[in-house]
Amino acid sequence: MHAQLEEELLYPAARQALGRNDLIEEAKVEHASARDLIKQIQGMDPSEELYDAKVKVLGEYTKHHVQEEENELIPQLQQKGGLDLSALGRQMMTRRQELMQQMGVQEQQSA
Ligand SMILES: [Fe+2]
Ligand SMILES: [Fe+2]
Repeated sequence: MHAQLEEELLYPAARQALGRNDLIEEAKVEHASARDLIKQIQGMDPSEELYDAKVKVLGEYTKHHVQEEENELIPQLQQKGGLDLSALGRQMMTRRQELMQQMGVQEQQSA
């Protein structure tokens, strides 16, 4: 969900605002690596060798990835300007709802 939303909406907008950019390219590779690891984990039994290691590494990759997006990519976009980040955020929330509905996932109501 995270990867799809960003690849559909955030990265094309960021690419337009920043031009060709290492952070965006690395983020795409990180998404692909995470998808690959998730697929491997889904196809495994938890008792298998390397299962725990894969789950742990996925967590580490995810943390790294989210930190780079939050601490580097988003600040670059804020500095550069020319991109309406709140509008983009709303667009991503709408798309997220759509995707959740397609997947039959109920949105958690926050109290
Ligand atoms: Fe991402
Ligand atoms: Fe990275």
